[in-house]
Amino acid sequence: MKIYGAGACALLAALVFSVQASAADIKLGKKKARMCNVCHGKNGLATNPEAPNLAGESAIYIEKQLVAFRNGERKHRQMTLIAKPLKDDDIKNLAAWYEAMKVTVELPDLTQ
Ligand code: HEC
Repeated sequence: MKIYGAGACALLAALVFSVQASAADIKLGKKKARMCNVCHGKNGLATNPEAPNLAGESAIYIEKQLVAFRNGERKHRQMTLIAKPLKDDDIKNLAAWYEAMKVTVELPDLTQ
Protein backbone atom coordinates (compact mmCIF):
# COMPACT_ATOMS: atom_id res chain seq x y z
CA MET A 1 0.00 0.00 0.00
CA LYS A 2 2.77 2.37 0.97
CA ILE A 3 4.80 1.41 -2.10
CA TYR A 4 1.77 1.95 -4.33
CA GLY A 5 1.32 5.41 -2.78
CA ALA A 6 4.93 6.35 -3.40
CA GLY A 7 4.70 5.09 -6.98
CA ALA A 8 1.59 7.11 -7.67
CA CYS A 9 3.25 10.14 -6.15
CA ALA A 10 6.33 9.72 -8.35
CA LEU A 11 4.11 9.28 -11.39
CA LEU A 12 2.18 12.43 -10.54
CA ALA A 13 5.43 14.34 -10.03
CA ALA A 14 6.68 13.09 -13.39
CA LEU A 15 3.45 14.19 -15.06
CA VAL A 16 3.53 17.62 -13.47
CA PHE A 17 7.17 17.98 -14.43
CA SER A 18 6.60 16.99 -18.03
CA VAL A 19 3.70 19.41 -18.34
CA GLN A 20 5.85 22.21 -16.93
CA ALA A 21 8.74 21.34 -19.19
CA SER A 22 6.60 21.56 -22.30
CA ALA A 23 4.64 24.71 -21.43
CA ALA A 24 5.75 27.73 -23.41
CA ASP A 25 6.87 30.81 -21.50
CA ILE A 26 5.62 33.92 -23.27
CA LYS A 27 7.75 36.25 -21.13
CA LEU A 28 10.92 34.41 -22.07
CA GLY A 29 9.72 34.47 -25.67
CA LYS A 30 9.39 38.24 -25.51
CA LYS A 31 12.93 38.54 -24.16
CA LYS A 32 14.35 36.27 -26.82
CA ALA A 33 12.47 38.19 -29.50
CA ARG A 34 14.70 41.22 -28.91
CA MET A 35 17.01 39.74 -31.52
CA CYS A 36 14.11 39.41 -33.98
CA ASN A 37 12.68 42.91 -33.55
CA VAL A 38 15.04 44.61 -35.97
CA CYS A 39 13.37 42.79 -38.87
CA HIS A 40 10.06 41.45 -37.58
CA GLY A 41 9.17 44.51 -35.51
CA LYS A 42 8.72 44.88 -31.76
CA ASN A 43 4.99 44.32 -32.25
CA GLY A 44 5.44 41.48 -34.75
CA LEU A 45 4.72 43.73 -37.72
CA ALA A 46 7.77 43.58 -39.93
CA THR A 47 9.95 46.65 -40.31
CA ASN A 48 12.01 45.02 -43.04
CA PRO A 49 10.03 44.72 -46.28
CA GLU A 50 11.52 41.29 -46.99
CA ALA A 51 10.51 39.89 -43.61
CA PRO A 52 7.00 38.60 -42.89
CA ASN A 53 4.75 39.81 -40.07
CA LEU A 54 4.76 37.32 -37.22
CA ALA A 55 2.07 38.90 -35.02
CA GLY A 56 -0.82 36.51 -34.61
CA GLU A 57 0.73 33.71 -36.68
CA SER A 58 -0.09 30.35 -35.17
CA ALA A 59 2.51 28.91 -32.82
CA ILE A 60 2.35 25.62 -34.72
CA TYR A 61 3.33 27.36 -37.95
CA ILE A 62 6.10 29.49 -36.39
CA GLU A 63 7.57 26.45 -34.64
CA LYS A 64 7.54 24.46 -37.86
CA GLN A 65 9.27 27.23 -39.79
CA LEU A 66 11.95 27.82 -37.16
CA VAL A 67 12.70 24.11 -36.93
CA ALA A 68 12.84 23.96 -40.74
CA PHE A 69 15.29 26.91 -40.86
CA ARG A 70 17.36 25.28 -38.10
CA ASN A 71 17.66 21.91 -39.80
CA GLY A 72 18.11 23.34 -43.29
CA GLU A 73 14.77 22.15 -44.73
CA ARG A 74 13.88 25.81 -45.34
CA LYS A 75 16.73 28.01 -46.42
CA HIS A 76 17.24 31.75 -46.13
CA ARG A 77 20.58 33.54 -45.76
CA GLN A 78 19.61 35.40 -42.57
CA MET A 79 17.00 33.14 -40.98
CA THR A 80 19.16 30.04 -41.31
CA LEU A 81 21.89 31.74 -39.26
CA ILE A 82 19.41 33.11 -36.74
CA ALA A 83 17.58 29.82 -36.19
CA LYS A 84 20.69 27.65 -35.89
CA PRO A 85 21.48 28.37 -32.21
CA LEU A 86 17.83 28.35 -31.05
CA LYS A 87 16.95 25.61 -28.56
CA ASP A 88 13.61 23.78 -28.68
CA ASP A 89 12.42 25.81 -25.68
CA ASP A 90 13.45 29.10 -27.32
CA ILE A 91 11.42 28.16 -30.38
CA LYS A 92 8.35 27.24 -28.28
CA ASN A 93 8.59 30.47 -26.30
CA LEU A 94 9.08 32.66 -29.36
CA ALA A 95 6.17 30.98 -31.12
CA ALA A 96 3.94 31.53 -28.07
CA TRP A 97 4.95 35.19 -27.88
CA TYR A 98 4.07 35.95 -31.49
CA GLU A 99 0.87 33.88 -31.39
CA ALA A 100 -0.32 35.80 -28.32
CA MET A 101 -0.25 39.10 -30.24
CA LYS A 102 -3.76 40.12 -31.21
CA VAL A 103 -4.13 41.37 -34.74
CA THR A 104 -7.06 43.26 -36.22
CA VAL A 105 -7.50 43.33 -39.95
CA GLU A 106 -9.23 45.79 -42.19
CA LEU A 107 -10.14 44.41 -45.57
CA PRO A 108 -9.77 46.69 -48.58
CA ASP A 109 -12.90 48.53 -49.55
CA LEU A 110 -13.75 47.32 -53.06
CA THR A 111 -17.03 49.20 -53.40
CA GLN A 112 -15.49 52.35 -54.87
C1 HEC B 1 17.98 40.26 -40.30
C2 HEC B 1 16.52 40.22 -40.36
C3 HEC B 1 15.82 39.12 -39.57
C4 HEC B 1 15.95 38.83 -38.24
C5 HEC B 1 16.86 39.50 -37.20
C6 HEC B 1 15.02 37.74 -37.96
N1 HEC B 1 14.35 37.40 -39.10
FE1 HEC B 1 12.92 35.98 -39.30
N2 HEC B 1 12.77 36.33 -41.26
C7 HEC B 1 13.50 37.29 -41.94
C8 HEC B 1 13.19 37.19 -43.37
C9 HEC B 1 13.77 38.08 -44.46
C10 HEC B 1 12.26 36.14 -43.52
C11 HEC B 1 11.65 35.61 -44.82
C12 HEC B 1 12.45 34.38 -45.19
C13 HEC B 1 12.13 33.86 -46.57
O1 HEC B 1 12.02 34.67 -47.49
O2 HEC B 1 12.04 32.61 -46.70
C14 HEC B 1 12.02 35.63 -42.18
C15 HEC B 1 11.14 34.58 -41.88
C16 HEC B 1 10.83 34.17 -40.62
C17 HEC B 1 9.81 33.20 -40.30
C18 HEC B 1 8.89 32.50 -41.27
C19 HEC B 1 7.57 33.23 -41.25
C20 HEC B 1 6.60 32.82 -42.31
O3 HEC B 1 5.52 33.44 -42.36
O4 HEC B 1 6.87 31.90 -43.09
C21 HEC B 1 9.80 33.07 -38.95
C22 HEC B 1 8.88 32.19 -38.12
C23 HEC B 1 10.82 33.95 -38.42
N3 HEC B 1 11.43 34.61 -39.47
C24 HEC B 1 11.09 34.08 -37.09
C25 HEC B 1 12.14 34.85 -36.59
C26 HEC B 1 12.51 34.88 -35.21
C27 HEC B 1 11.79 34.14 -34.10
C28 HEC B 1 13.61 35.69 -35.11
C29 HEC B 1 14.43 35.99 -33.89
C30 HEC B 1 14.93 34.85 -33.16
C31 HEC B 1 13.87 36.22 -36.43
N4 HEC B 1 12.98 35.66 -37.31
C32 HEC B 1 14.87 37.13 -36.73
C33 HEC B 1 14.36 38.20 -41.40
C34 HEC B 1 14.81 38.22 -40.10
